[in-house]
Amino acid sequence: MNLTKKLEKAINQQITAEFWSSRLYTAMSFYCEKDGLDGFAHWLRKQAEEENEHAYKMASYLIKRGGTVVLGKAEDTPSTWKDLADVFKAVYAHECKVSKMIDQLVTLAEAEKDKATELFFWDFVREQIEEEETAGAIAERIAKFGKTHLYELNQQMMNR
Ligand SMILES: [Fe+2]
Ligand SMILES: [Fe+2]
Repeated sequence: MNLTKKLEKAINQQITAEFWSSRLYTAMSFYCEKDGLDGFAHWLRKQAEEENEHAYKMASYLIKRGGTVVLGKAEDTPSTWKDLADVFKAVYAHECKVSKMIDQLVTLAEAEKDKATELFFWDFVREQIEEEETAGAIAERIAKFGKTHLYELNQQMMNR
């Protein structure tokens, strides 16, 4: 059974959004690198790679189900932030936004009576819990210790 047109379109939008997330984190990585925060830059680069992987995974699924991948226009990303705390607040907010998008995909798959797609995106619903948790924890650490222990925090981020 092939995907319905509605689902095919929605998944394509999500693939485009995952690539955009990757661009956003890449831009943030460069911002941190310029600021001498190589640990945070490294973490964000890894995060960007993960978003690319999400996009590829969704694209393979789409193809497997008879769909055609159509990459949407790559919107510009911001290139500067107020400070490091602002960057990670934005990461957290972005992940929360993505969680909502994934939830909507599951809801649409339900409405389209496509169990396989529902199941496929449930994995991402779970993944988003981690994504939000990790980003939120880093944002919190920066808020608490960013002024006094920035050097150590930056070093820790290298471990990813
Ligand atoms: Fe993602
Ligand atoms: Fe993410």
